[in-house]
Amino acid sequence: MIFEYSVLAAVTVGFVVSMYYCLITGISPIPSSRISTNHILDIAPEQVIGDILELGAGWGTLAFPLAGLYPGNRILAYELSPVPWLFMKIRWLVYRRGNLDILRRDFRNAPLEGVGLVVAYLHSEGLAKVRDKMERELKPGTLVVSNVFDIPGWTPEAKHGLDDSFCPQVYLYRVPGA
Ligand SMILES: C[S@@+](CC[C@H](N)C(=O)[O-])C[C@H]1O[C@@H](n2cnc3c(N)ncnc32)[C@H](O)[C@@H]1O
Repeated sequence: MIFEYSVLAAVTVGFVVSMYYCLITGISPIPSSRISTNHILDIAPEQVIGDILELGAGWGTLAFPLAGLYPGNRILAYELSPVPWLFMKIRWLVYRRGNLDILRRDFRNAPLEGVGLVVAYLHSEGLAKVRDKMERELKPGTLVVSNVFDIPGWTPEAKHGLDDSFCPQVYLYRVPGA
């Protein structure tokens, strides 16, 4: 009985904490769909010079395959919400991706120097908040892949429609100024 109550308490606390972080960030830790994940991995460049940054890595749906795809690059998986962050940490213990850094930090404070590829699945409002920072700190021409949502104020290099009602498109951007 004590075990059942403990599980119930843990689930309740996890749920409340997750809801709180949804309010703070304005987005839930909903993962990229299988179709969009596969598409992003398919279109990812063969080689990336520098680190790969994921803005809000959720449960690691993209971060772990990216770490496998780019064993020679450091993957910086920023995630603010404690529950998905903890899940990624536990997942890391199982899969042990040495090049994957799971960081419980706000990506708006992430140093972007040395980043060669950015991946995100955020709402447009969240992307707009980080757009100016990307313009200031990333090298012009750096590839930014955004699942589902556009980045207000930037013109995409390409928009890939997917046969997926959940994640119907992926946007590809280059940091302006090249
Ligand atoms: C829609 S989920 C996408 C998860 C993952 N990128 C994927 O594609 O499966 C967006 C995630 O971004 C996180 N997030 C939102 N704003 C953040 C911020 N400022 N810093 C760190 N993480 C943030 C949320 O907590 C959420 O888990």
